[in-house]
Amino acid sequence: MISPPKPLVIAIDGPSGSGKSSVSRAVAQRLGLAYLDTGAMYRALTWWCAQQGVDLEDLDAVAQAAKDLPLRMETDPRSPSIQVAGVVIDEAIRTTEISASVSKVATNLAVRAELCRRQQALITESVEARGGVVAEGRDITTVVAPDADVRILMVAHQDARLARRAKELHGEAGHEAMSATHDQIVRRDKDDSTVSQFMEAAPGVTSLDTTDLNFEQSVEAVLDLVAAHTGREDLGSRSRTEPDQK
Ligand code: DC
Repeated sequence: MISPPKPLVIAIDGPSGSGKSSVSRAVAQRLGLAYLDTGAMYRALTWWCAQQGVDLEDLDAVAQAAKDLPLRMETDPRSPSIQVAGVVIDEAIRTTEISASVSKVATNLAVRAELCRRQQALITESVEARGGVVAEGRDITTVVAPDADVRILMVAHQDARLARRAKELHGEAGHEAMSATHDQIVRRDKDDSTVSQFMEAAPGVTSLDTTDLNFEQSVEAVLDLVAAHTGREDLGSRSRTEPDQK
């Protein structure tokens, strides 16, 4: 009898602009796994607090909002989506206002405990439903899924990260666009790194520097790390073709 493939949990952390979201999603798609964007959950809570008139400085009120958050995550990497109270907020959570204030929510430790619990439940569900997951964020390799089969910290030089985000937000990486993006990368990472450690790889976590890699090369580098860490050569970049989605 052929035994079913072992569940596969891939944890990817990194600072803003390291490429982790788009690369994680592509890797999940290539391997037929679920994709969990945990940053979207912090953004969703920030959006919900604004809707409910919850003051982000009121730590207890925000923690209570995290407990009550009527959140639904769609983890199919072909069409990931996030809903709160039945409203699709995929675009609403990417505004400059949310990006500028989300660190206030993400540095609330009671919020982190609640969202960590929800992320772990989603990982368990994804393993049951799709055989595994690529989960990405800031504390997945260290706190949410420290026992993941593959743990990667994706890094890139600050200038490369700034240029990527400036192009994403402004369509170019000239001087003005770069300085407008500064708050979204440098200040936010500084605030966020007071509660999670994602600038240096923790013991047992493999660091992947994408400064000089394009998107496809980054995806291939992750697939090769997955093959190397699991001993499954069939998962590597050279032997992969798109699998049939379950
Ligand atoms: O990756 P992102 O920019 O969408 O993340 C949004 C915010 O959430 C960011 O300020 C960092 C925070 N975050 C976190 O603290 N822990 C995670 N696991 C994911 C994101």
